[in-house]
Amino acid sequence: MKHIILETSRLELKEMSFSDMKALSSILQDENVMYAYEGAFNDEDTMAWMQKQIQRYKEYGFGLWGMFLKDTGEMIGQCGITMQEYKEMQVPEIGYLLAHRCWHKGYATEAATACREYGFDILHFNELYSIIRDTNIASQNVAVRNGMSLIDTIVKHYRGIDMPHMVFCVNRNDTK
Ligand SMILES: CC(C)(COP(=O)(O)OP(=O)(O)OC[C@H]1O[C@@H](n2cnc3c(N)ncnc32)[C@H](O)[C@@H]1OP(=O)(O)O)[C@@H](O)C(=O)NCCC(=O)NCCS
Repeated sequence: MKHIILETSRLELKEMSFSDMKALSSILQDENVMYAYEGAFNDEDTMAWMQKQIQRYKEYGFGLWGMFLKDTGEMIGQCGITMQEYKEMQVPEIGYLLAHRCWHKGYATEAATACREYGFDILHFNELYSIIRDTNIASQNVAVRNGMSLIDTIVKHYRGIDMPHMVFCVNRNDTK
């Protein structure tokens, strides 16, 4: 049994492993989900993504965790904290991604809120960020529901394209 990192009313967040490749592929290889990343991943991209998350667990002790439904045990997405570059610093970012069939049920907000509490209470960060493409309104809405405010806009270079991103942030004192 995998160790549960975080538990909410409907979800468990746990480290992913290669046994989750099938569920991960069905999410990352779906055009509907991957619009914000300039298109669906292929098998090679998906494997590299999984390896990157496993590397992050080892290096930092946290990363993008698998999001599992308590009721069925299935992996429906990912949510967690990763270190990302912002203004030549490494900042902790809350990220999330859900299988298309699981959108509009509140799962991303439920998981992101738990990650915010974990980031402040367990990892002792003072600020948590979500850096989101300007076109990705659903993700921005999750950041706002997670108590974050827009503080900046930046351009990220990803898959050979310049992408304007909005920087959302919450300070530990904001949520007290
Ligand atoms: C970003 C993403 C995870 C957001 O998913 P989402 O379904 O919009 O967000 P939530 O899971 O928090 O669900 C919120 C919605 O569920 C509704 N909802 C239904 N039941 C609910 C419940 N029990 N509790 C809370 N909200 C509930 C809310 O009213 C809200 O409705 P809306 O979509 O009409 O605004 C999803 O769009 C996604 O995977 N996108 C692709 C990947 C991506 O872009 N990731 C972010 C990169 S920065």
